[in-house]
Amino acid sequence: MKNSTILQKARLFSCLLVVLHGPVQAGEITTTAGIASAHPLATKAGMKILRQGGNAFDAAIAITSTLAVVEPYSSGLGGGGFWLLYQKKTNKYIMIDGREKAPLAATRDMYLDKKGNVEPGKSMQGALASGIPGVPAAMVYLARHYGRFTLNKNLAHAVNYARHGYRINKTYRLYAKLRLKALRKNREAARIFLNNNEVPPEGYILKQPDLAKTLENISKNGINGFYSGKTAKALVNGVTRAQGIWSMQDLAQYQIVERKPVIFKYHNNRIISASPPSSGGIALAETLGILEAYNLGKIDKPAKIHLVTESMRRAYADRARFMGDPDFISIPTQWLLGKKHIASWRNSIRLDEATPSEFISDVRETGIKGLDTTHFSIIDKFGNMVSATLSINYPFGACFVPPGTGVLLNDEMDDFSSKPGVPNIYGLVGAEANSIAGGKRPLSSMSPTFIENKDRIAVIGTPGGSRIISMVLLGILEFADGKTAKEIVGKRRYHHQYLPDFIMYEENALNKNEASRLRELGHTLKQKMSPYGGGLGVYGNMQIVILNRKDGSITAASDPRGLGLSIVK
Ligand code: GLY
Repeated sequence: MKNSTILQKARLFSCLLVVLHGPVQAGEITTTAGIASAHPLATKAGMKILRQGGNAFDAAIAITSTLAVVEPYSSGLGGGGFWLLYQKKTNKYIMIDGREKAPLAATRDMYLDKKGNVEPGKSMQGALASGIPGVPAAMVYLARHYGRFTLNKNLAHAVNYARHGYRINKTYRLYAKLRLKALRKNREAARIFLNNNEVPPEGYILKQPDLAKTLENISKNGINGFYSGKTAKALVNGVTRAQGIWSMQDLAQYQIVERKPVIFKYHNNRIISASPPSSGGIALAETLGILEAYNLGKIDKPAKIHLVTESMRRAYADRARFMGDPDFISIPTQWLLGKKHIASWRNSIRLDEATPSEFISDVRETGIKGLDTTHFSIIDKFGNMVSATLSINYPFGACFVPPGTGVLLNDEMDDFSSKPGVPNIYGLVGAEANSIAGGKRPLSSMSPTFIENKDRIAVIGTPGGSRIISMVLLGILEFADGKTAKEIVGKRRYHHQYLPDFIMYEENALNKNEASRLRELGHTLKQKMSPYGGGLGVYGNMQIVILNRKDGSITAASDPRGLGLSIVK
């Protein structure tokens, strides 16, 4: 066939596509499904499941389990997370709360020394730092209640990578370097994740045969493959031998919870986000509630950053005071999101001056920590959606593996307030809401989110500790402004979390003039430098999938700061 004929046919075909699906923007592909995740092997595993006829929930299991193997520094069977679901056939939004729970023997002051001071590192590494994991229970639950495929089929990719290995990347090396001392302290963790007690070179093939066996045990026996029987015994033995406090009862009583997400409006957008024990949804609703009264499109960038900062400052202050595990404390959500409270916060904002954080609340310990974590987003051809943020907290979690299990445990206990504040004159106790108790879930910032308006739907989320909420907030503002998936993940970021009282920003987020305008308003600015070097893991790793409701096309993007992959088909 001559070139001109091929060209004519191609043009005719593209005209037909436009007629069938409506106009498609340049660079955007008409597709039926999309996945974005933090690791290419996980995205590919999820896409394979979709291509074989699985739904978004099957793909979520395949991605969750593959990330557990290929991103051991971010999430895993020894960790927890939140899976925000939209099920098309029931038109229901659901949040699967698979957050870790404190062991039943945990106590309020377990990380304090005799003088009542927090013992550094005690809640961050070793067997005492770990909550009871939720990831295995969540995967079993997803397969049983939402998937089309067997658990065995959905876990097969992860088993394969655990048994036969995968090549480690730059991120692995940077995080392993960061936690090298802690990894070396635990013989089993060092044996699996280091090479002769050193950070393995790039391209090193990491095999995790014990983890493969544990995954197979879950495949075969569901919940009992992890929370009772031989894996559970090995987990508890390993933890207790290392001065941890897990018991068989802790594992046997672990259950995921289906919770209602936080749903609210921002102008013409409907936001669906994580509910407690995540602070994300409420903090986003408060921040955007305050901002909704301003015309952010009509003011310049420093004025906008000032207003966004002042709104975040107030929402994060409420986070510190009021939020924790809803199964243990009563969070005044209706009041926090009520018109009166939002208006009073808004009225306290001055356009010409930053409000020092000490003037707006007396909570002095925010309990906001966390560094790593991971995220993935999915839309399938059936119209189902999953936004999932998963964590073992700090890179490589507690750097502790109970022998024989291959399961790297979390250090999510560090997300509790180790030393809640003393009561104030009104009897209010700062950060008490997030104090430690046996069976309680630590407060989280993980904020898997959907954004919907009449034209588009986005599935969005990111890791990044306390900055997760502000990153998702900036993503929502960009989406509401009509930005593309690629523009949203590439946006330069800034953050304020009430305490410490400064705006943290990443390189190039502010130019000199913008920075000096913000300083004139009374803000302190601090550029966030990479703790790892190499530009990796500096400021989030956002994963987004967007459905264009007009033509059915899907676009997706992975954060350029990370090594993730998005695929649309
Ligand atoms: N571990 C991070 C978070 O849950 O916010």
